[in-house]
Amino acid sequence: MDNEADIFYRTLPKVELHAHLNGSVSFQTIEKLLSRKPHLNIEHSMTAIGKGQRRTLDECFQVFKVIHQLVDSEEDILMVATDVIKEFAADGVKYLELRSTPREERNTGLTKKKYIETIIKAIQQCKNDGVDIKVRFLVAIDRRNGTEVAIETVKMAEEFMLSSDGLVVGIDLSGDPMVGHGKDLLPALQKAKDCGLKLSLHLSEIPSQREETDLLLNLPPDRIGHGTFLHPDVGGSQSLVEKVLKKKIPLELCLTSNVKGQTVPCYSNHHFKYWYKLGHPCVICTDDKGVFSTDLSQEYQLAASTFGLSHEDIWEHSQQAIDCIFAPDDVKQQLKQKWIDMKPQVFK
Ligand code: IMP
Ligand code: ZN
Repeated sequence: MDNEADIFYRTLPKVELHAHLNGSVSFQTIEKLLSRKPHLNIEHSMTAIGKGQRRTLDECFQVFKVIHQLVDSEEDILMVATDVIKEFAADGVKYLELRSTPREERNTGLTKKKYIETIIKAIQQCKNDGVDIKVRFLVAIDRRNGTEVAIETVKMAEEFMLSSDGLVVGIDLSGDPMVGHGKDLLPALQKAKDCGLKLSLHLSEIPSQREETDLLLNLPPDRIGHGTFLHPDVGGSQSLVEKVLKKKIPLELCLTSNVKGQTVPCYSNHHFKYWYKLGHPCVICTDDKGVFSTDLSQEYQLAASTFGLSHEDIWEHSQQAIDCIFAPDDVKQQLKQKWIDMKPQVFK
């Protein structure tokens, strides 16, 4: 969906909890990166999936590799993170949890530590510039990289949690679901949980992960990314659903990402319907707004038009997302007040 969302959805204050930094790079920022690195011969068509287009999950992961070639220095990361934060703010997002996998790049001297520091710097700069959005950061573990890297990542995340003035709040587990197994990452994830980092895990993004999901749900995670194949209608199981319901683990749901990545056949079959009907906490998110050519306002509008939700339903949906954030209660209270203050203006 490459349309402009209606004014209601733009003005609606929103919470974005599932946004991968390098998947969120806009057309305009890609343009700047292309001009910095013309020798790479990369074209726009290689960094985004446009209107009506679909890709296999495998092809989606190729797109990230291309973007990583374009974003490989401290300078690039600072620009990309700053642009992404400002774009979410311009779309009416009032609270954003950004996630990204620390990378080192020999060519540019980038280290994983510098990578995280640079994102923190971008968050602080946006705050100092008065951009109207609160931003927190989740350090991502790419499942492909195995046990040792996962443990190293958790160590770094813990250090930054203690030194970043509350900006680093948790860990994300992501990466190609076809590669690696959660059991190898369990010790690292357990350690993260024990030291007070929150956990958002991509779970059951593809059908063959029942055993892994069952194992990781025992942690339990604080939120689930996608959870596409959890429920029995699509080959999951009632016992997985029961675990999620019992522990009240919120789901981060990304409609366009799942349809364009073809893990969901069409919008009307999206598992949003299943969980929403149960009254279970779920939060509409973008996943990769740049790669999937969308934004959060469009995703909200899409959910409303696909599942017949009224403006009041959508308002409630955006408001209940505040309870799913990883920042502490004082931030939740500030956001709840903001929603109260903004309501007359959104419904005028
Ligand atoms: P980065 O971590 O900021 O570099 O963002 C891109 C990375 O996010 C990809 O290389 C993947 O590891 C991860 N990612 C983005 N979208 C998805 C998804 O839908 N499923 C799993 N991992 C994803
Ligand atoms: Zn994701």
